[in-house]
Amino acid sequence: MAGDGWTLGIESTAHTLSFGLVDANGIPHPSVSDTVRPDKGGIHPREAADHHKEFAPELFRKLLSTNNLQPNDITSVAFSQGPGLGPCLRIGASIARGISKRLEAPLIGVNHCVAHIEIGRQQCGCADPVLLYVSGGNTQVIARLEGRYRVLGETLDIGIGNMLDKFARAQGFPFPGGPVVERLASEWLLDNPDPSMDGLELPYAVRGMDLAFSGILTASLKLVENGQPLGAVCWSLQEHVFSACVEVAERALSHTGKKELLLGGGVACNSRLRDMCDIMASERDSQSFAPPRMYCIDNGTMIARLGWLEQAEGRITLFEKSAIDQYLRTDQTPITWA
Ligand code: ATP
Ligand code: FE2
Repeated sequence: MAGDGWTLGIESTAHTLSFGLVDANGIPHPSVSDTVRPDKGGIHPREAADHHKEFAPELFRKLLSTNNLQPNDITSVAFSQGPGLGPCLRIGASIARGISKRLEAPLIGVNHCVAHIEIGRQQCGCADPVLLYVSGGNTQVIARLEGRYRVLGETLDIGIGNMLDKFARAQGFPFPGGPVVERLASEWLLDNPDPSMDGLELPYAVRGMDLAFSGILTASLKLVENGQPLGAVCWSLQEHVFSACVEVAERALSHTGKKELLLGGGVACNSRLRDMCDIMASERDSQSFAPPRMYCIDNGTMIARLGWLEQAEGRITLFEKSAIDQYLRTDQTPITWA
């Protein structure tokens, strides 16, 4: 046990401000969140930061009232220290410092990417998985080795979620685009039950153990411009990029000899990706796990959970060491818990 009270987690790396909790035993409680959805264009870091500042008091109050808590029930304050957009991270960190000081509760800065992994492990009950971490900004295949989550393969350009968001935005759909692409692809599949007959040709994203998505984005946009049905392009796009991720994940399972695959990050909400992972894992006598969707997308609860784990290992963050790190990497954080 890290303490006798609740650990608050504050997530603010990009589009979403979220407050979540774990109890004294590290058990997660659902987050209270709000996401910026620009009318046009992508996420502007400064505007997202302004949004986070504006919504923080209301969300924090809502979290406390939903869980029937008083501020003093919070005995530790965890926040996303990085990676992410500088202005957004700075707002989250300053909210965390403020609450920590006011409540005289220790502050714990945590690694956002590791938080995605740890909430998944807790929710799915798997011990030592290969991770397929697929979000807006990140696409990584990860395995734990000698006290770190090592990145075995990752995107060489943009994250898979950003690619889906950009594709959807070009078709006039606002952020987040991934769910729209999923819906259009599955609607198209209903009308075209044997899509293998006319799947569209696109570049393939695998580069050794790494991945790349910008070429496939350009090619998909061209297909739509050239008059291919949008649903068919969405379906082909998903098939290509998810197959690429699953291929790298399979190779990671094979190289490491591990038997569990764990999905994490916002794109892990996608049912087709979940199905592909299930098929691959079962074909190699392994198991695939995916956390509940509310814990795949960015959420404060995962930050609270990692803060709780860190504190149980005796690690807290002094105010003078609480500066954000936009470029924090998954493998920079020591993993000392079982
Ligand atoms: P990170 O900082 O970890 O990169 P993030 O800021 O991108 O995270 P997440 O909430 O982890 O945030 O992921 C958001 C992404 O997930 C968006 O790109 C969104 O389009 C994508 N996404 C959400 N639901 C789906 C879905 N059903 N299918 C595909 N993509 C999805
Ligand atoms: Fe994330």
